[in-house]
Amino acid sequence: MNNFDLKNKTAIITGGAQGFGLDIAKTFLTSGAKVFIWDIDDAELSKAVKEIDNKNLDSNVVDVSKFEQVKDAVNKISSNNKIDILVNSAGITGPTAELWNYDNKAWSDIVNINLHGTFYCCKSVVPIMIKNNYGRIVNIASVSGKDGNANASAYSSAKAGVIGLTKSLGKELATYNIAVNAVTPAGAKTRILDQMTKEHVQRMLSKVPRGRFLEVSELTSMVCWLSSEENSFSTAAVFDISGGRSTY
Ligand SMILES: NC(=O)c1ccc[n+]([C@@H]2O[C@H](COP(=O)([O-])OP(=O)(O)OC[C@H]3O[C@@H](n4cnc5c(N)ncnc54)[C@H](O)[C@@H]3O)[C@@H](O)[C@H]2O)c1
Repeated sequence: MNNFDLKNKTAIITGGAQGFGLDIAKTFLTSGAKVFIWDIDDAELSKAVKEIDNKNLDSNVVDVSKFEQVKDAVNKISSNNKIDILVNSAGITGPTAELWNYDNKAWSDIVNINLHGTFYCCKSVVPIMIKNNYGRIVNIASVSGKDGNANASAYSSAKAGVIGLTKSLGKELATYNIAVNAVTPAGAKTRILDQMTKEHVQRMLSKVPRGRFLEVSELTSMVCWLSSEENSFSTAAVFDISGGRSTY
């Protein structure tokens, strides 16, 4: 993997206890950043911190769907640190079902975590980035937000919302040295796949011209560049990483 220079940068990564978020955290640390991983899963968070064992890594139990929790965590971090990078990776897919059979509570949870969570984190962090005239935000959306997946209407809607949020916020901040971008991964083998049926996962895979799952490290590479100073022009954009499934 290429080296990225994130020295003297402070990053918050939501959903950082495992999967994409944790892999991004590891690479940010080796690139010189100070990293705060947030997650709702206390046990996974403690395990990750213990395993990585790096003084530049800190963690907070934060439910991103609760605005007050997000705000408090940002206030604590920003009292001693600037916040240069925000990666919104916390997410759930929810169950696999047709829209007309979709459980109302499951629908709300999916939208609250994936979309409202991204909104709450951006809303809390952006004023600090504006004050410093520096920031890089990367929102982990999904190819389902572009193409729509059958039997995943809540997830597809929430991720389409994340794409819309990214385009709006990127434009609002375009005259600052702040970049806001989204990425749209295809399926990768993380724990999130356990939330869907095996048939659904197979159907997703069958749509990918590359004919395989995305490797977590491949997503991390893209996120690292988007989070670095080198990404000084691209903003309000959607970076595709769907293995050819989506061609726009
Ligand atoms: N893996 C894939 O196939 C895939 C494909 C496209 C997009 N994505 C997106 O990538 C992101 C990361 O997913 P992943 O594959 O690493 O899954 P994962 O399940 O391994 O990690 C997601 C993390 O988010 C945390 N989380 C869930 N709800 C939360 C909340 N309310 N507050 C804080 N943390 C919460 C979980 O505890 C978990 O640690 C998600 O937004 C997901 O939608 C994943």
